[in-house]
Amino acid sequence: MKFIIRITLLAILVSTTCYGGDKHNHKANEKAVGVEALSHDLRDLLSQEMRALQNGMMSIIPAYIAGDWTKIETTAEKIKNSYILKQSLTESQVKELHSVLPQAFIKEDERFHYLASMLEHAAKNNKAELINFYFSKMNESCVSCHTIFATHKFPTLSSTEEKGEHTH
Ligand code: HEC
Repeated sequence: MKFIIRITLLAILVSTTCYGGDKHNHKANEKAVGVEALSHDLRDLLSQEMRALQNGMMSIIPAYIAGDWTKIETTAEKIKNSYILKQSLTESQVKELHSVLPQAFIKEDERFHYLASMLEHAAKNNKAELINFYFSKMNESCVSCHTIFATHKFPTLSSTEEKGEHTH
């Protein structure tokens, strides 16, 4: 159930509610406090999830240059369904997160999962050019969410938000 996975990502929001879903508000410090306020367990899960995501993304490059579309399809599917959180979040954690999620975070997360499913689809159809397109869109999506919610981890992103792909 990718729903659960999403929730994981949403966990971050718990502490970022102060943002009120305003994408244009980018005060890095407030965000940092937010994520850091998460419970140990949830934050751990989030980090694991992020690292798994990164590993998945990195594994796509050698598969791509070798024309291994099947491998890309499988990886994209895993990303779409998310890796770890799926198994790890309890129902009450899910509920808790769900009740506090900021809209902006949900949007970023949904967009990311949408792009993963498009990548999966492109790989399934052996469309090299489209695979490249959605892979790069996914990279943009990482940066887009980090620019809003993870500048404490990636401080150089804090001033680049205006350049991101925001729809107004
Ligand atoms: C919906 C929001 C969102 C999306 C999309 C997202 N991230 Fe993250 N990511 C975060 C947040 C928030 C943190 C900071 C977590 C923390 O500080 O505990 C983070 C942290 C990370 C970290 C550091 C993890 C650690 O603690 O060591 C990595 C690596 C990472 N993300 C990779 C990625 C990659 C790669 C993608 C895209 C394929 C991605 N993220 C997409 C929100 C997101």
